[in-house]
Amino acid sequence: MRVIMIGGSGFIGQHTAKFISNNDLCVYDLVPPSFQADYVQGDILDEKRLEKSVDGSDAVIFLASLISVPRSFDALADYMNVNACGAASLIEAIKNANKRPKKVVLSSSAAVYGEGAYACDIHGKVYPLPRTQDQLDRGSWEPRCPYCGREVKPLPQAEEDELRPLSPYALTKQVQEWLITAMAPRLGYKAIVLRYFNVYGPGQRPDSPYSGVITKFITQAIREKHLQVFEDGLQTRDYIYVDDVGEINARALELEESATINVGTGIRTTVLQLARLIADRHGVDVVVGGYRQGDIRHSAARIDLMRTMLGWQPRMTIEEGVAATENWMRESGQLKNESSP
Ligand SMILES: NC(=O)c1ccc[n+]([C@@H]2O[C@H](COP(=O)([O-])OP(=O)(O)OC[C@H]3O[C@@H](n4cnc5c(N)ncnc54)[C@H](O)[C@@H]3O)[C@@H](O)[C@H]2O)c1
Ligand SMILES: [Zn+2]
Repeated sequence: MRVIMIGGSGFIGQHTAKFISNNDLCVYDLVPPSFQADYVQGDILDEKRLEKSVDGSDAVIFLASLISVPRSFDALADYMNVNACGAASLIEAIKNANKRPKKVVLSSSAAVYGEGAYACDIHGKVYPLPRTQDQLDRGSWEPRCPYCGREVKPLPQAEEDELRPLSPYALTKQVQEWLITAMAPRLGYKAIVLRYFNVYGPGQRPDSPYSGVITKFITQAIREKHLQVFEDGLQTRDYIYVDDVGEINARALELEESATINVGTGIRTTVLQLARLIADRHGVDVVVGGYRQGDIRHSAARIDLMRTMLGWQPRMTIEEGVAATENWMRESGQLKNESSP
């Protein structure tokens, strides 16, 4: 099978390549890949060049995006251009190709859910509003029912939940999902939308907006001798190791029907648990306090579809994943000659 990975030179692309090496692989990216593959240097917005690469490919893995939630607020036009217009450009390229691909695997994000769904004792499943500054100043961390104001309990995020993106980045991922899915029947390809939760592991830039927290905590533990955790540390995330994501991408290529599937572990880890795990490895303290506006409180995937449709469940535990990430940071010199974050 001829597979083209658009944006394949990045963090997730480089780990995905290991699991699809039995295919005829081409990477289309602004920068060259660090692994062996055909390479076309190109911008996703260059429709003509993209069309040449897409033509004759059996499947597309679409990874090219700008990926920072905070930066997306300051660079609206860039985010809309690269992410939303980039998806449109890919669709034009597919439309105009002589031999169109039969599959498009899109790397979407849990960010499309926003704060997600919660359970209220009185009102059942509800979608809380983002927490206000006043709420955060009072240290009232848990989201509240929009109808009765009671504290609510987080539910696993399910594929059929309402999407409530809270950042320009999240909105562009939703646009990508919509375009790739809606155009699939017209252009004759299957659309497989994968909603990645917090991906981490070797190769992730320490300033990544996602699980940069893991590389950031490791760096802090070594340099500053303590870890700084926001809120009360009981906010939760679903951390999935990058090799697990690479393998899921490979499995998605085998899928014969269109689908939208969460990619996580289904395990809720509090940021405090994560910090203690890293702090204990280094014998340092964890300090709790402060907050960042715009952070969501809880996020974890329901992974039933991942299990049934992709026949897969995560392999790597957070303990193993953190150790592997720290080894990579040491071996690749990430912990040397840098100023403190
Ligand atoms: N890392 C995560 O935790 C996470 C979580 C959810 C979703 N995602 C999604 O997964 C995908 C890959 O993320 P990543 O962590 O590997 O990011 P990354 O930044 O490491 O890789 C993105 C790649 O896209 C390329 N690219 C950027 N703009 C381009 C353009 N205009 N034309 C061509 N190529 C371009 C970059 O050169 C880079 O190689 C993204 O779509 C991201 O939204 C990542
Ligand atoms: Zn209620």
